[in-house]
Amino acid sequence: MPHAAPQRLAALLGDPVHHSLSPRIHNHWFARYRIPGIYLALRVAERDLAAALALLPRLGFLGFNVTMPHKQRALELVDRLDAVARRVGAVNTVLVMEDGALLGRNTDGEGFLASLKTARPAWRADAAPVVLLGAGGAARAIACALLDAGVPELRLVNRSRARAEALAADLADSRIRITSWRERSKALSGAGLLVNATSLGMHGCAELELDLDALPRAAVVADIVYAPRCTALLRRAQARGHPVVEGLGMLLYQAVPGFAHWGGVVPEVDERLWSLVAGGGDSGGNRG
Ligand SMILES: NC(=O)c1ccc[n+]([C@@H]2O[C@H](COP(=O)([O-])OP(=O)(O)OC[C@H]3O[C@@H](n4cnc5c(N)ncnc54)[C@H](OP(=O)(O)O)[C@@H]3O)[C@@H](O)[C@H]2O)c1
Repeated sequence: MPHAAPQRLAALLGDPVHHSLSPRIHNHWFARYRIPGIYLALRVAERDLAAALALLPRLGFLGFNVTMPHKQRALELVDRLDAVARRVGAVNTVLVMEDGALLGRNTDGEGFLASLKTARPAWRADAAPVVLLGAGGAARAIACALLDAGVPELRLVNRSRARAEALAADLADSRIRITSWRERSKALSGAGLLVNATSLGMHGCAELELDLDALPRAAVVADIVYAPRCTALLRRAQARGHPVVEGLGMLLYQAVPGFAHWGGVVPEVDERLWSLVAGGGDSGGNRG
């Protein structure tokens, strides 16, 4: 019997990982492109991350996604970092290069932007200010991507002002304006895009309290929370006639660069994938 083609191996490293949608995404692409491969969710405790990143490539793994609580620690464990991961200060994708070196990348920001541009192709980065709620890990990546895309002004609004100030200091860009959390509804005036990058609105968290009255009707409203798929913020925005963007799209598009490496094909975020990960969920209908 001829030998089967070698399996391409990739994995998510995190703790916990049982809830993750990443195996569904990557295994869908392996199947769709008929590439012999498997993507696993590996529960790796903090103390074991260095050992896992040293051993798994030697066992044939071509790369990893890295999630809580490893995104910062992975920065120190890889051999090289791309410019975005360095600026964001976190790694979400580790690629095993041909020479065995580990390249740390952060694809959350490009995933967000790809999702936004696909769902709302009429949105123009340079047209109007953006309001970004949050200054945590995801917000950092999104802030970098929006600034790189050419937004004229980034209004950063976070509950703890010190964290927003730290992000602004790290990114050192004169287009960033910090607005206090108390004044968040006023910050919406004249904006072309509102992004919720806090965990508010997520299952198990409080709802985001935000008065949308000052937001121009044409402004796009994006939520990066994806459980529930259509958040209360997106429902309220839709009721006011805003184009909306669901958080699930960011999750799907941030996976593309990793699969391009370990699958060898730039994969498409297709309808089948949406229905696989959404599980027939309550879509906000953001895909035009
Ligand atoms: N769609 C995707 O692909 C994707 C990717 C990554 C993350 N996410 C989602 O994005 C959310 C944030 O993730 P993260 O990794 O950035 O988390 P994180 O680093 O823990 O940051 C959490 C953010 O939410 C804010 N926040 C939390 N509770 C709050 C409250 N009661 N009132 C006001 N602000 C509050 C925090 O403000 P403080 O700084 O004041 O604490 C901070 O800005 C999560 O829901 C996560 O599931 C989605």
